Order: sequence, then structure tokens, then C-alpha cells
Amino acid sequence: MNILIKNATIVTSTRAFNSEIYISEGKIAQIGKPLKILEPVDRTIDAKGKFIFPGGIDPHVHMHLPTFAGFSADDFETGSKAALLGGTTTLIDFVTPNKGQSLIDALIDRKREADNSFCDYSFHVSPVEWAQNTEQEIKDCIESGITSFKVYMAYKDTIGLNDEDIFRVMHTVGKNGGIVTLHCEIGDEVDKLRNDLANKGNLNPEFHPISRPAHTESEAVQMAIEMAKIAKCPIYIVHTSAGESIQFIEKAQKDGYPVYSETCPQYLLLDDSKYNGDFNDTCKYVMSPPLRKREDQNMLWNSIGKRIINTTGTDHCPFNLKQKEQGNVDFRKIPNGAGGVEHRMKLLFTYGVLKNQISYNQFIDITSTQAAKIFGLYPQKGEIAVGSDADLVIWNPKTENVISVENHHQNCDLEIYEGFNTIGEPEVVIANGEIKVENGILISKNKGKFLKRPA
Ligand code: URP
Ligand code: ZN
Ligand code: ZN
Repeated sequence: MNILIKNATIVTSTRAFNSEIYISEGKIAQIGKPLKILEPVDRTIDAKGKFIFPGGIDPHVHMHLPTFAGFSADDFETGSKAALLGGTTTLIDFVTPNKGQSLIDALIDRKREADNSFCDYSFHVSPVEWAQNTEQEIKDCIESGITSFKVYMAYKDTIGLNDEDIFRVMHTVGKNGGIVTLHCEIGDEVDKLRNDLANKGNLNPEFHPISRPAHTESEAVQMAIEMAKIAKCPIYIVHTSAGESIQFIEKAQKDGYPVYSETCPQYLLLDDSKYNGDFNDTCKYVMSPPLRKREDQNMLWNSIGKRIINTTGTDHCPFNLKQKEQGNVDFRKIPNGAGGVEHRMKLLFTYGVLKNQISYNQFIDITSTQAAKIFGLYPQKGEIAVGSDADLVIWNPKTENVISVENHHQNCDLEIYEGFNTIGEPEVVIANGEIKVENGILISKNKGKFLKRPA
């Protein structure tokens, strides 16, 4: 399909300019004004008064994640639909092998699960143990187009790794041109705090944040950075939530180390007062790390402004109330996680750009371009340039909405942003040159593809 977009204000991470865009064979074929197009145009879109953004990239989602409480509520089909409706055209999910399973076998299985995704996707692969073949398997993953690996410093009883094994992963990944992403919480301390609280009968969701205090994150961040320096490995700190973590990231970046960081809308917009109340009102906020204080939110916004925090993911991992209820007499049994893939762009536009926390260009940088650069997708993704994939969002900056479980498309009966007002929404979403979303409806059911990334 050949598409001509006229009268557009194109916004990238570095520029904003008025132009026409011509899309052909899935790619951006021409940018300029006026364009001379010799081929037949199938569709002309007048984008007067609208912005054109690169499609969003969410580098942190968990679709169909197996847990003790069942699978997370969105699979790749429902989750990618919600993503597209929100203006996100690329997802990076995770491959979490069973113990004893090879990374490559787990990758093959996960690719099959992602077959029904409506948008393009890739994965971070998580070594959950260090076995005889792990080094070779990491190399094999890199050969197969997976260049980022995720390790968990928490969840020691299931998927978490000890420090020695984290170092081994970093060393191997660094040597082979990849990047390690880390869930930073001191797992042993968190486990002890959780059990101490529970043993004293403190079992409501309000004790979840108390069991995972900010210093358990910041100390893990500090340790991860020190290990990465010795292992000579680029690292990416996922879901940074605590203001006190930022000093360590900033220092490492100033000293020239390849240390990147991500935060999520929930840590920018929600605080720990959400844990006060009844189980049914508070359980949806049980996620790790937990929501923090207002001061932390300010520090996170500030570090986005200073480009210390490079990206925003959602850590999209919703569970239904029935699943959360598994922990109604013990917060340790509440499955951790919440949804957000549909709302990230709207929330950051409304509460970031329109509240003058970030510029338009920074909005693009943290929702798309930096994720593409850090994870080896640039300039195929994350950019509006001739030759890039035609993943574009025509953004109406005026439309007002209220987020609610009644109108969201995430496959979940809980909504952590319930009642949030938003201004601005994607009116048309184009992925690989095809119109996927128009006026809030997914109009193409064609599937996305696995994105191979170079080391
Ligand atoms: O609570 C969360 N974040 N659940 C998803 C898994 C993770 O830690 O990222
Ligand atoms: Zn995590
Ligand atoms: Zn996560």
C-alpha cells in the first residue's frame, strides 16, 4: 500500500518540521515538500493540526508470563492490540527458560507464543542459572538476533541469579557485543523482610512496599554497576523507581561507562499512598519494585530531563482480580505486576509534555528512539527518515479521554490508572507501512514479525 501523508508536523527526537511523507513497500520512501510521486497513491491522509511521531517502542513487557497464579492476563494477541491502540508499534518481551532448558529452546518456544502478535517484537533472554552450556547458548542467541539478556537480582527462589552468575553472564555478553538488563533489588534482603513482616502477622498489601524499601533497589543498582565495570559489559537498569538509585547511574554515565536506565509511567505518576485501603483497591498496585514517594517521582522526572534515564517501558504484566486474590491473606502470594502498554504514550504526552516536564523531542526520545538505539533497532525503528520502517503515529494533540477499566483494551479487569485524564491520542497508527489503527479501532489483523537485532 502506498500512503501519502500531507500537512504533517513531524516530530523526531531531535527535530520538528512540516513536511509530507510518502510510504511505499513498508518503508518511508520520501520526506519533503512538495513531493513528486510518480506511482499511484492508494491513500492520502491530511494530517493538518496533527503530529507525526515514530511508532512507540516498549522495551519492557511481559505477555503471557507464566506465574504461580497463572499466566499474566494479556497474551501477545491482546497485548499487542492494546499496544497498537496506544501508539506503540514494537514490543520487547522476555524469554524465561525453565531450569535445565537451553536458552535457544526457550527462545524457539517463546517465538511460537508471539506468533499471534499484531506488531513487531523482539525479546531479552534471561539466563536463570549458569550451566555448562550457558556461555555457548548466549553466543547462539546473539547469532539468532537476540543481543540483550536480562538478569534478576531478586526472585532468588525462582528465576533470580546469584552475584557470581550475574558476573558470568555480564562477562560473556560483554565479550560478545551484547547488553545485560537488570532487575535491581537485593533479593536476599527483600526475602528476609517479607518473611519477617509476614511472621509478625503483617500480611496486607500495605506491607508490600515496606518489604522492598528504596535502599534495596539503590544498593542493587550500585552493585550492578560495579560488576559491569569489571566485566566490561554495557548494562541497562530496568524499571528504576527510587530517586536514590539515580546518583549511581549518573556517576557511571559521567565516568563514561555504558550504563543506561529505564523508568515506567507508574513510578512517575503513582505513589505509595495507593497501598492504603482495602485489599480489592490496593492489590492492583502490588508490583516490584513498589510505588515510591512523591519525592522519587520528582527525581525521576528530573533525571529524564537530564537524560540520565534514557527510556520508558511499562513492565506491562497485568493480572486479573481473581489472580491477585490468591494473596488476599498474604501479600507474598499476590502475583506481582500491572498493565500499562496501552497508556504509556498518552500518559507521557499528557503528564510529561503538556505539564512541561519534558519537551516534544524528549517525549519521542524516551518513548521510541533511545530504546531503538540501545537495543540495536535503530534506524530501522525509532526514527522518521527515508529507509526506516514506516512505523508512524498520527497524533491528535487535542482529544481528551479518561482511562478506565470500562474502556481500556488490555485484557484485564483491573486498571492502575483508573480515572486519569489524558489529552492527545493516536488517531492513525501505521506499522510497516500498513494502517493498523484508525479512530480507536484495530483495522488490520495482519501479524507482526520477530526483529533480529545485530550485536
Ligand atoms: O512486578 C513486576 N514488575 N512484575 C513483572 C516482573 C518484573 O519484575 O519485571
Ligand atoms: Zn522486574
Ligand atoms: Zn518486568
